Amino acid sequence: MRTVRFHGYGGPEVLRVERLPRPELGPDELLLEVTFAGVTLPVVRLTHGGPSLPHAPGGDVVGRVVGMGINVRGWRVGQRAAGMAFSGAYAEFALVNAGFAVPVPDDVSDEAALALVRGGQVALGTLHIAAVRPGDSVLVTAAAGGVGHLTVQLAKLLGAGRVIAAVGSTSKADFVRGLGADDVVFYSQDHWGEPVDIVLDGVGGDVFRQSLDAVKPFGRLITYNGVGGNVDVNELRMQSKGVIGFSMGQFATLRRDRYDEHRDKLWKLTAAGELRPAVHRTLPLDQAAEAHRLIEARENLGRVLLSPTL
Ligand SMILES: NC(=O)c1ccc[n+]([C@@H]2O[C@H](COP(=O)([O-])OP(=O)(O)OC[C@H]3O[C@@H](n4cnc5c(N)ncnc54)[C@H](OP(=O)(O)O)[C@@H]3O)[C@@H](O)[C@H]2O)c1
Repeated sequence: MRTVRFHGYGGPEVLRVERLPRPELGPDELLLEVTFAGVTLPVVRLTHGGPSLPHAPGGDVVGRVVGMGINVRGWRVGQRAAGMAFSGAYAEFALVNAGFAVPVPDDVSDEAALALVRGGQVALGTLHIAAVRPGDSVLVTAAAGGVGHLTVQLAKLLGAGRVIAAVGSTSKADFVRGLGADDVVFYSQDHWGEPVDIVLDGVGGDVFRQSLDAVKPFGRLITYNGVGGNVDVNELRMQSKGVIGFSMGQFATLRRDRYDEHRDKLWKLTAAGELRPAVHRTLPLDQAAEAHRLIEARENLGRVLLSPTL
């Protein structure tokens, strides 16, 4: 089968398509014939260093079940499924953990399922942890990204009073306004206007500082980006603010009922046309480098996908 790997660190150009045997099923895994694989920022960053080499990038995948491990129950060959491949996602066949894979309903497209299986869960999970109430003001950073563009829409659907989207370019500003954002702010602005009840920060670093300044007393910031930032807890005390971390892996494991409930809600909202996952571009496997470049250059409006069937 064809799969994308890299043998040395560097920019997107290190990615290449290779022919390898199909991966061998573990006892708790599903083997999927992949229709789409998602390209995500933390995985894109890995080409610059970290994983042992050669490395086959992981990510969210959707496809049809073609094999099941000996412990797997409740799945059948031919069923449509979406899940996370910890490596080897940019490939014709990929392994996912059956316990966290989800069957895709008939009324949800493969592309939408791909966007929701991780991004939708992070968006709804962070809004849940933030305990958003109707009327709350919510500011979303990285608002045009794979997670953020769903968070903007879901915050509105949950009844947020005002949703402010923080983005880095005017094309992204137009995009998020089209998704229902009430206001748009840019990272380059010194102030983001009236403080808000809730900030969901998908960027971190310097933007974490701006994000914390944007929270009003008794408001909270949910940090879920892979970059982080420092916080003085005495400052939190004096300003009566809260900072809460969010890990998708822990949410899926330790809040399993809520995770399953969110999955059903995401399917229903999407099938009804109320939630609109956006795909910026879909590319064939041999253009994986271009897919990584789009993410690194911050050009994506929504998700960037790879498809082994193109
Ligand atoms: N906690 C968890 O379990 C979990 C799970 C999944 C993802 N995540 C995290 O969620 C974040 C968003 O993921 P995503 O899939 O939505 O990513 P994405 O589609 O690549 O969007 C990220 C956006 O961040 C903005 N950005 C600001 N500063 C940036 C910088 N220095 N480098 C790159 N981008 C920058 C860019 O938008 P602008 O150009 O508008 O600034 C970019 O489009 C990532 O940090 C990821 O690690 C966390």
